[in-house]
Amino acid sequence: MPNTLTDPFGRSINYLRISVTDRCDLRCFYCMPEAFKDYAVPESWLTFDEIERVAGAFATLGVSRIRLTGGEPLVRKGLPELAGRLSAIPGISDLSLSTNANRLAHHAHALQQAGVKRLNVSLDSLQADCFQSITKGRLAKVMAGLMAAKAAGFAPIKLNMVVMAGINDHEVLDMVEFCLEHRFTLRFIETMPVGETGRKASSHYLSLQTVKARLAERYNLLPSIMEGGGPAQYFTIGDTGLRIGFITPVSQHFCATCNRVRLGVDGTLYLCLGHEHSVALRPLLRAGASDEALQAAIREALLLRPRQHDFNNQQTTVMRFMSMTGG
Ligand code: GTP
Ligand code: 5AD
Ligand code: SF4
Repeated sequence: MPNTLTDPFGRSINYLRISVTDRCDLRCFYCMPEAFKDYAVPESWLTFDEIERVAGAFATLGVSRIRLTGGEPLVRKGLPELAGRLSAIPGISDLSLSTNANRLAHHAHALQQAGVKRLNVSLDSLQADCFQSITKGRLAKVMAGLMAAKAAGFAPIKLNMVVMAGINDHEVLDMVEFCLEHRFTLRFIETMPVGETGRKASSHYLSLQTVKARLAERYNLLPSIMEGGGPAQYFTIGDTGLRIGFITPVSQHFCATCNRVRLGVDGTLYLCLGHEHSVALRPLLRAGASDEALQAAIREALLLRPRQHDFNNQQTTVMRFMSMTGG
């Protein structure tokens, strides 16, 4: 068997997103309900040994890139230790983390020491009251985390802003200026109708084609390539060196080049962000399956990969909340 994972549509899978918890210390209204308590029980959480084993199986099958997600990954105790174990797996050349930065001030240095190469930070507003109304969190704390990551030497840090009409779209230009000042890469994201909260938030959906057109009136947007081939389409602003990415799952999806699958905290392997298709790996792990059996189960799971999501059809969107897969 060759060391590559390919799905039925000929796409190579080289990127695994690992959700280490479905809990979060913020409550972005588009992600999970404010009173949400229906978390995975601790006995169902994959242990660090189990996560390392699954990651190792994926690495053997050709995956070279891992992103740690949540909920909020830094809510899971000992995350830097796990990061260190994953970055040491032969074949894993790119370990990254998506975080809300609420606890980043405390962990930034340790994460860097542990081999985390790239950080993506969610930041939907630069105004304390607007930030609070979106996330129920404190902007000052998140800013402290962001600046600690910058001071620890992470570069470039990518900021993720979900742009929502009537909520934070008036801050698009401020965010550009902020990223120019701090040399962050900026990504705008369209609201996805994932989970009941995501569907409700889609009433604030704003096509990023509109945002791009607005920005193009003011700045010289030059198409740009960012290595890694994630979902964003990048531009640089004139000769400033500032990169802006547009993540447009709804107005212009990027499923044809999708290179990723997702592992949930309970060992469920999700084959697409926009579908329910999944395979439970935990029973195999806990029944003492061999490495070969685990790899075979992963290969077989890949057969379930759909061609694309269907976010434009409100009937067929997924029920689980975004917090279960960390985006
Ligand atoms: P990079 O490796 O830095 O490109 O990261 P990323 O953009 O893939 O990850 P991040 O966690 O920062 O996600 C940014 C946004 O992209 C989130 O809203 C994710 O839900 C979304 N996203 C990531 N992968 C996919 C995907 O496969 N499909 C869709 N529809 N959205 C995705
Ligand atoms: N639509 C778009 N992006 C979302 N995220 C969470 N929920 C949604 C949604 N419904 C984003 C977060 C974070 C990233 C990992 O996913 O804001 O930046
Ligand atoms: Fe937490 Fe991220 Fe969901 Fe916001 S989007 S509630 S920070 S998991």
